[in-house]
Amino acid sequence: MSTNQKNRVSHVAIIMDGNGRWAQKRALPRSMGHKQGAETVKEIARAANELGIGFLTLYAFSTENWNRPKEEVDTLMGLLRQYLKSDFSELNKNNIRIRFIGEREMLAPDIAASMEQLENETAANTGMTLCLAVSYGARQEIAGAARRLASLVKKGDISESDIDIKLFSDMLYTKDMPDPDILIRTSGEKRLSNYLLWQLAYSEMFFSDTLWPDFKPQELRDIINEFYSRERRYGKV
Ligand code: FPP
Repeated sequence: MSTNQKNRVSHVAIIMDGNGRWAQKRALPRSMGHKQGAETVKEIARAANELGIGFLTLYAFSTENWNRPKEEVDTLMGLLRQYLKSDFSELNKNNIRIRFIGEREMLAPDIAASMEQLENETAANTGMTLCLAVSYGARQEIAGAARRLASLVKKGDISESDIDIKLFSDMLYTKDMPDPDILIRTSGEKRLSNYLLWQLAYSEMFFSDTLWPDFKPQELRDIINEFYSRERRYGKV
């Protein structure tokens, strides 16, 4: 694997799609697909950390996912609760830092409190940052940034002409993170589904037919190798 600095992978973002179809193929309830998908989260996080990736951002629950049947929302929130309280401690042992992006005020108070606790507990870790997007929507994030800037202008803290790409980025959940080098979406769908719309401006896109519960570290390594072989020009010739 090349370690060319210009192309080094510092951030991989993933849309983990296909849990439902994975379960359906096995005549299992959708909840089993999510459960298996959550196992893949741990496996891929471990592998990404070993590969020396700085940031791994996973789309665990979108703002639109609140519209799924209550039973499925409850399953996903239950899994998250369980992971926050126990399974993620293994990641902490592996020196992984954990953070969350999304609308926390939408979440049950105990989940929001566990998230904060986990972020604090892992803040001093020096390995990869695992960033979980929970109750996350990119348009909501961008509208929120615009609102905050408008309020700073109104208060006189900044002037209109101070608003540039850097300042706008600083108003996003991802403010101290590099933009993703790579976006992966599993399960054959080719959409962004309101994910990191601002941050993905120059990311290389990879669409895999693998259903998320079947996604293995080797496929991540293959994608990273292909990334190294692509040439990124950032609009230049
Ligand atoms: C898409 O599959 C996946 C989701 C909506 C949620 C992703 C959640 C997990 C991987 C598990 C929970 C994560 C943690 C961190 C505890 P889908 O249901 O849309 O699949 P389908 O398109 O095949 O129906």
